[in-house]
Amino acid sequence: MPDFAALLIAWQKTHGRHDLPWQGTHDPYAIWLSEIMLQQTQVASVIAYYQRFLARFPDIAALAEAPLDEVLAHWSGLGYYARGRNLHRAAQLVMERHAGIFPADPDAVMALPGIGRSTAAAILAFAFGQRRAILDGNVKRVLARCFGIAGYPGAKAVENALWQKAELLLPDTGIETYTQALMDLGATLCARRPACGPCPLRAMCVAYNENRLAELPTPKPRKLQPQKETAMLILRRKGEVYLEKRPPAGIWGGMWSFPEYGVEDEAGLARFGVKGKAGATLPEMLHTFTHFRLRIVPRLFEVTATLPEAREPGGLWIAPAEALGAAIPAPVREILKALA
Ligand code: ADE
Repeated sequence: MPDFAALLIAWQKTHGRHDLPWQGTHDPYAIWLSEIMLQQTQVASVIAYYQRFLARFPDIAALAEAPLDEVLAHWSGLGYYARGRNLHRAAQLVMERHAGIFPADPDAVMALPGIGRSTAAAILAFAFGQRRAILDGNVKRVLARCFGIAGYPGAKAVENALWQKAELLLPDTGIETYTQALMDLGATLCARRPACGPCPLRAMCVAYNENRLAELPTPKPRKLQPQKETAMLILRRKGEVYLEKRPPAGIWGGMWSFPEYGVEDEAGLARFGVKGKAGATLPEMLHTFTHFRLRIVPRLFEVTATLPEAREPGGLWIAPAEALGAAIPAPVREILKALA
């Protein structure tokens, strides 16, 4: 048996959860109901709903015969009502297709609405002791960390690798305890914020031993942020540059920066009344904010006339080296360093 499974099973026996209402049964219907309720809802919230639901709909036939409204009324408060609708529909399908007996064949189980590969495996393991791998969000996190499997677990290729790993890790015996252990570990010690001290897998855990807990599992890649652009006007005169204090609200509020105008806005440039000539070309920059990226086009002018003086107060002429000590945004700092 892989160490992973042996360690988990031993841990489950002393530290796992043993008294949940769906743990004392092998009734596939009762287990199915629990797994559906637990898909998007935590154990503590599920328990009371589970017991009320089972009391009112004690078996598949009772559920299949009940009006949908009444099923949803018993789901009311749990959220994600498609789960309740699918469960009701699936109960009717079990009546039609399987004479009311919950199937033990994984393909037949997965053909029921609301039951994916991992939920099917959990039901079949708990109800029939079938040796099948689960892979819900919590288990993905445990495996990604323990075996250092990088890449966003929702990406198909990564998910395939995780399924493969999950299959290889299965114990020869004790599938129920093992499956419950994986679920319990993922919901408790190996939660999003892990508590590694008491973890039974610590000695073999790649994320723990290589100090990669902050990066595993790999977060969902951000979708490309919208891009904005601005031209920064860098006026240079007698070794000094012109900076102005930005308004208090908005990006870089209250910091010192170069005047800005539209990248394509020639008239905008004219508004600054620059007399002089264009200086050396400075490289463009791409600055990332939380919700957008800003393309910055620096435009350097060697100024002869003093027209920008009219923009003071709020602006000042300052030596780049001195300005580096002020409150300035990172891209402005880059430009000042290049000029200093
Ligand atoms: N989450 C999903 N299935 C579970 C189960 N059987 N016990 C505890 N948490 C779970």
